[in-house]
Amino acid sequence: MADRRRPAARPQRQAPDVHGGWVGRRFEVTVGPVAHGGHCVARHEGRVVFVRHTLPGERVVVEVTEDRQKGFCRGDAVEVLEPAADRVERPCPYSGPGRCGGCDWQHVSHAGQLGLKADVVREQLSRLAGLDVDVTVEALPGGPLRWRSRARFAVDRTGSPGLRRHRSHDVVPLDDCPITAEPAARAVLARRWLDAGAVDVALDSAGVVTTTTLDRRGRPLETQVLRPGAEVPEEPAGRAQRTAGGRDWEVEGTGFWQVHPAAADALVGAVLDFAAVQPGETVLDLYAGAGLFGGALAPGVGAAGRVVCVESDAAACAAADANLADLPQAEVWQGDVDAPGLTELLGDLGRPDVVVLDPPRAGAGQDVSGVLAGSGARAVVYVACDPASLARDVAAFARAGYRLAGLRAFDCFPMTHHVECVALLVRA
Ligand SMILES: C[S@@+](CC[C@H](N)C(=O)[O-])C[C@H]1O[C@@H](n2cnc3c(N)ncnc32)[C@H](O)[C@@H]1O
Repeated sequence: MADRRRPAARPQRQAPDVHGGWVGRRFEVTVGPVAHGGHCVARHEGRVVFVRHTLPGERVVVEVTEDRQKGFCRGDAVEVLEPAADRVERPCPYSGPGRCGGCDWQHVSHAGQLGLKADVVREQLSRLAGLDVDVTVEALPGGPLRWRSRARFAVDRTGSPGLRRHRSHDVVPLDDCPITAEPAARAVLARRWLDAGAVDVALDSAGVVTTTTLDRRGRPLETQVLRPGAEVPEEPAGRAQRTAGGRDWEVEGTGFWQVHPAAADALVGAVLDFAAVQPGETVLDLYAGAGLFGGALAPGVGAAGRVVCVESDAAACAAADANLADLPQAEVWQGDVDAPGLTELLGDLGRPDVVVLDPPRAGAGQDVSGVLAGSGARAVVYVACDPASLARDVAAFARAGYRLAGLRAFDCFPMTHHVECVALLVRA
C-alpha cells in the first residue's frame, strides 16, 4: 500500500538551455552601455549578451563563451571593428580574451575607467534604490598600475603561481602582475610553490612582504616575511605596519587592510567628513577590521564619548585592541554583525549618534540595515565595495526613513570593475 505521508514525486526540472548551442558562435554587434561586473550589454537576435573586453559604442566581433539558461549569454570581443575613443593598448601582456581574469578594464584609459565606474554606481542606485544621483569616481594617487599591496595568487598542479582565467578554475601562470606592487609580485611569481593551492601576499608600509601559503581547501599553511634588502624569508611573521589618517597601524600579516596604499587615507577622510562627530557622541564602527575608522573617529568624540568597534575575526580584533590602546574611549567587541546580535548590542549601548559600517562585498543586508535604521542614529556612514549591495541596502534604509544625503566614490581598484563608495544616510 502506498504510504500517504510520502511527499509527491518532485516535478522534473524543465529542460534547460532553451537557446543552447551559442557557445563558440561569432557575430558582429554594436555594444551598448556598461553593466556591473566588468562587461557591456549588447543584443543579438533578441538575446542579451554581456560582452567583456569592449566599451560602449564599439562595433566588435563577439565570441560567445557561456550560454546561460536565463536567456542571456556571455562573450568576449575578439575583434574590434570600430574602437571607442577611450580604448588603449593593454599594459599587461597577460590580459585579453581567454587570458588572465584578474582585470576587466586593461584596454581602457584610466579616465575612461573612472567614467565607466561612475555609470555603474549611478545605474545601480537608480535601478535598485530608485535614486537619481550625480556620481563622480575619484582617482587615488599613484596611477592605475602597481597599486595592489595585497593579493591572492592561485597555484597550479605544477607549483606555478598565477591568476585564474575569467569564470574558470584554470590557472594562467604569470611572470608578473603589473597591477601588483613590484616587491609583492616578485616574492610570489618568481618561484614555484609546491604543495600549495594559493599564496596570499601583502606589502606593508615599511616594505616588508608577508606571504601565507594556503592548501587546496584555502586553509593557511605557512607564513613568512621578507624584509627589504633580505634575500631569504624569515618565520614566524610579526604584524605588518600600515599608516593612515595620521596614525600607525598594525595588521596581522596578510590580514584585511585596504588594498590600495592610498585607499585607507581617502576613505578615512570621507568617513570623518560625513560622520562630523561631536565631543561626547557615541559611535558604532561595524565590520571594524583592525579599527581603522573607529580609531580615526575616537579623537573627535573625546574623553566623554564612546566608540564601539565590532569585528568577527579574532586576529583583526587583537590588532584593533593594540591599535586603539591609546584611545580609552574606544573598545573592541568580537562578534558577528547580524540582526539578533545587533539588537542585543543596541539594547546595551542605547542610541548611537553615528554608525559607520564597512561590510564585505555582500553588504549588510536588509535585516541588519533595518535594525540599524531602527537605532535612530543621526547619521549612518556606509563604506561599500559593491555598488549593487550598497544600492539594495540604501533602499532598505529609505524604507525605514533614512535618505541618501551624500555619496563619494573612489577608484581603489584600477583596471578592475571594482569601486569603493562612501554613502551618508541621515534621517529624512
Ligand atoms: C571590508 S573589511 C573592513 C575592515 C575595516 N573597516 C577597514 O577598512 O580596514 C570587512 C571586515 O568585516 C569583517 N566581517 C565580515 N563579516 C562580519 C560579520 N558578520 N560581523 C562582523 N565582522 C565581519 C571581516 O573580518 C573584515 O575585517
